[in-house]
Amino acid sequence: MTLHFPNMAEPAGRTLGDEEVAALERVIRSGMLNSVWGTEARSLEREVGELYGSRHAIACSSGTAALHLSVVAAAPDPGDEIITTPITDFGTVAPILAQNAVPVFADVDPSDGNLDPDSVAALIGPRTRAIMAVHLFGAPARIGALRALADEHGLTLIEDCAQAWLTELPGGALAGTGGHVGTLSLQQWKHITCGDGGLTVTDDDELARRMRLFADKGWDRAAGRSHESLGLNYRMTELQAAVARAQLAKLPGVVAARRRTAVQLIEALRDLDGVLDSGAHEVAGAGEGRRVIRLPRPDGHAWWLFPLVLPGGDAPELAGHLSAAGIPARSGYLQDPLNRAPLWRQPIYGTSSYPLDGYRPAACPAAERLVDSTLLVIDWNEHYTSEHVAAIAGAVRCYQARP
Ligand SMILES: Cc1ncc(COP(=O)(O)O)c(C=O)c1O
Repeated sequence: MTLHFPNMAEPAGRTLGDEEVAALERVIRSGMLNSVWGTEARSLEREVGELYGSRHAIACSSGTAALHLSVVAAAPDPGDEIITTPITDFGTVAPILAQNAVPVFADVDPSDGNLDPDSVAALIGPRTRAIMAVHLFGAPARIGALRALADEHGLTLIEDCAQAWLTELPGGALAGTGGHVGTLSLQQWKHITCGDGGLTVTDDDELARRMRLFADKGWDRAAGRSHESLGLNYRMTELQAAVARAQLAKLPGVVAARRRTAVQLIEALRDLDGVLDSGAHEVAGAGEGRRVIRLPRPDGHAWWLFPLVLPGGDAPELAGHLSAAGIPARSGYLQDPLNRAPLWRQPIYGTSSYPLDGYRPAACPAAERLVDSTLLVIDWNEHYTSEHVAAIAGAVRCYQARP
């Protein structure tokens, strides 16, 4: 019988159980499903704030909404630029456009797809307002270097932690606390879920005030029925918050389990012919004629997915081999990096792209190569066992052994 790999679209691949059912029943029986008057979303904010050691946590309807709040907090003028990565979910980029700001795509580190701080530095100009980093697949982005750039140039640093619950930065601080605002997602495919949902974390009172107002129609509820600023309705419901609270209690176990099996896989692959440790240098020409596979750096990783990099461009071939062996693996992660998305070939707002008239994203060669041919991702799950690890390692060994 083939081994089943639990996935996040089925009960066996999630941690949803009696606690979430009880949480939902509690809210429904209370008669109050809206978080303006209920207690669940405010409790979730307190609990996430405590977990992240942040002065403020703000619950909202999705990870994309959380990113929109963070862009609003950075307060770009129309036409201001926000530097971000082309390897991410579109939820990172849509909020920039929603605020009539301009996404400027920096290139990434070919070893893990996270933003390359040197590429970011080269793109900072008079209209740059913010940097949005993504902790891709749960691997820590280079927040130390990006924060130094943000501080030097007076920019807001936003950390998109949708894939990076409990990812650790060097030194042990949680990803999301090294910049000015961190954002989290509770969408179905994340470490923990309430279907859809999001949160921002920040220590900055003014940024928190702007985000709270924008999430609730610019309405300061303490000031009566009066609207202080532009805002939408991005409120989380009590139903979402109650499930999210039950899930939050399970988060440390989810991340610990993912870390345990990911490290097992690294150990199982490390000694295979052609497999390089994350820190190992490739000797020029040594990869000629043999397939090289580079392992991910485990430090601080939260293993939303398990990525491998094949510098020779063999990721589609290995992905095909793994899929044929029943292993949930894909090459590239995206069909196109976001600087190459079809979106840029047509008007963005009705018949106009104002203020992005004539906008064409620049090339990002490292990102394009990763998506095209060098990046492979294996779906990861907290319910994987050593059997799943052995099956993956066996399939990679078999691929490497082929003539
Ligand atoms: C890196 C990243 N950013 C943003 C998002 C958007 O989050 P959501 O789907 O909750 O809106 C996601 C996931 O979907 C993501 O993976």
